[in-house]
Amino acid sequence: MLGKLARQHDPNVLVGFDHADDAGVYQIAPEQALVQTVDFFTPIVDDPFTFGQIAATNALSDVYAMGGKPVTALALVCFPDKADLEMLERILAGGLSKMIEAGCTVIGGHSIRDEETKFGYSVTGVVNPKKVLTNAGAKPGDALILTKALGTGVISTAIKKGSAEPIWIDAAVRSMTTLNKQAAEILERQNLRVHAMTDVTGFGLIGHAREMSLASDVSLRLSTSKIDLLPGAVECVRAGYIPGGLNNNRDFAECVVAYEEPISDEIKRLLFDPQTAGGLLISLASKDAEKLLAALQSARIPASQIGEVVPRTKRLIAVIA
Ligand code: CO
Ligand code: CO
Repeated sequence: MLGKLARQHDPNVLVGFDHADDAGVYQIAPEQALVQTVDFFTPIVDDPFTFGQIAATNALSDVYAMGGKPVTALALVCFPDKADLEMLERILAGGLSKMIEAGCTVIGGHSIRDEETKFGYSVTGVVNPKKVLTNAGAKPGDALILTKALGTGVISTAIKKGSAEPIWIDAAVRSMTTLNKQAAEILERQNLRVHAMTDVTGFGLIGHAREMSLASDVSLRLSTSKIDLLPGAVECVRAGYIPGGLNNNRDFAECVVAYEEPISDEIKRLLFDPQTAGGLLISLASKDAEKLLAALQSARIPASQIGEVVPRTKRLIAVIA
């Protein structure tokens, strides 16, 4: 919708909304740019403190996905008139706990009365303009690494229906409350040839992979056997706990996918599962992939190499078993 409006021409915009990237990047000094993003949503778990943690983890993720460091955050709150204010306090406390972990200072916010609770943050980070990691720049020959398992969308849907097993909930919550901070720091410390990066969120793995391939003018090959799935994810698909967003994602993006080997319908669906606070999708020189994987895995980050970048062909994404 923003794209339909008149453009503002500002040479300091390094990454704007027309790139379909994770966050906006705006240069304020020769060596410094702001990374800005906003995200908020309705509760996806019953516990208010945990919901606050998830909302914060999710909002911070786009700053890490651009190679930035979060600095400040503003809370966005929609809360019902009649609801218990203690609940709101728990949500904010959960969010704050993750902001503290991120070293990001909450400096204000805004709340309105609304029939349905919604919570999230606008986050501002900083980045050296030369170190911005956009979704453009992936090169043929690169390895693709994903740092979290898929399945938070279908498991959240099962949670809402009261049908998720405790171990599924625990694993999904652990994933959704794990900051991408540590993975991003490892990436920076290792001094690797990272060419492109994004995080896997609402459009699902294929949706965000599609954006990376379009922005980079390459094709991607994804190997489903290498993609980690959260415990219960396949069971949730089989039982019909399909979020509306999953079907929308599939309707929109499946046309860019060529299934080159038989793939089960459960797995196909999970490739489009909308993720909350999902992992980083990293495209880097294949010679550096093992070094990065070893470092991520030794930090107990469930990272795996899920595919590779190839020269652009007619289909943007090939999926193999
Ligand atoms: Co993102
Ligand atoms: Co976002």
